[in-house]
Amino acid sequence: MTAPAGAPVLGLTGIDTFYGRAQILSGVSLEVRRGEVVALLGRNGAGKSTTIKSIIGLVRPAGGEISFEGNAIQGLEPFQISRLGLGYVPEDRRIFTGLTVAENLEVGRQPRRANAPEWNHEKLFALFPNLAAMTGRLGGLMSGGEQQMLTIARTLMGNPTTILLDEPSEGLAPVIVEQVAKTILDLKAQGLSILLSEQNLHLSTLVSDRAYIIEKGSIRYEGPMADLAENEEVRGAYLMV
Ligand SMILES: Nc1ncnc2c1ncn2[C@@H]1O[C@H](COP(=O)(O)OP(=O)(O)OP(=O)(O)O)[C@@H](O)[C@H]1O
Ligand SMILES: [Mg+2]
Repeated sequence: MTAPAGAPVLGLTGIDTFYGRAQILSGVSLEVRRGEVVALLGRNGAGKSTTIKSIIGLVRPAGGEISFEGNAIQGLEPFQISRLGLGYVPEDRRIFTGLTVAENLEVGRQPRRANAPEWNHEKLFALFPNLAAMTGRLGGLMSGGEQQMLTIARTLMGNPTTILLDEPSEGLAPVIVEQVAKTILDLKAQGLSILLSEQNLHLSTLVSDRAYIIEKGSIRYEGPMADLAENEEVRGAYLMV
């Protein structure tokens, strides 16, 4: 590890992001410390994906600062940010439908990194046993849950230290959401730091150490996940419950 447990790995300070003239994010600040799972919660359209895309460089904030592992990353291209060890699992999954499971994994391959667990097909198939049974299947012939697992597995092939997971539970049956929760906890146990964008309070409660709530592009709440689980007033005001 390059920094002691609990040191900040990802930090956003005062991020403003626009689509055209519409301001979507206003002064978003948040932090993920090493080994933490941090939930970014909010309703549809609150700004969760925009926050994640601002971090990974898919949209360019007009103001504010983003640091990852001590590097200022705002203004870098997504591939440059990814090579620093920040993995991204997009909301829309973006499986290559014409490639097999094994080929999709190869797309994510990056050199190993000193401060991150190293992944290969065998290790990933141990984490995702259902994928092991379908290595030759085309991505387009997989279920939504299988595609979600493959997207996470493909991101892990980049040997990241930290991953951004954008609404991994979206469209998945409750039993598959439980599998996603188990996967997140397995990754945390291996030392990964995780920022989890979610509307699913159940999943977030199962896996997260801390939570932020975003509404209309601003952070409205920050605290331990356990406190939020008890706080009906905040949940009722900002989340679907
Ligand atoms: N490419 C875009 N151009 C213009 N406006 C956009 C674009 N993408 C998102 N928006 C708007 O920005 C706001 C925040 O969207 P965002 O996708 O960040 O929300 P979200 O919290 O991820 O929602 P969801 O839970 O539905 O995924 C919304 O009002 C949305 O309509
Ligand atoms: Mg979204």
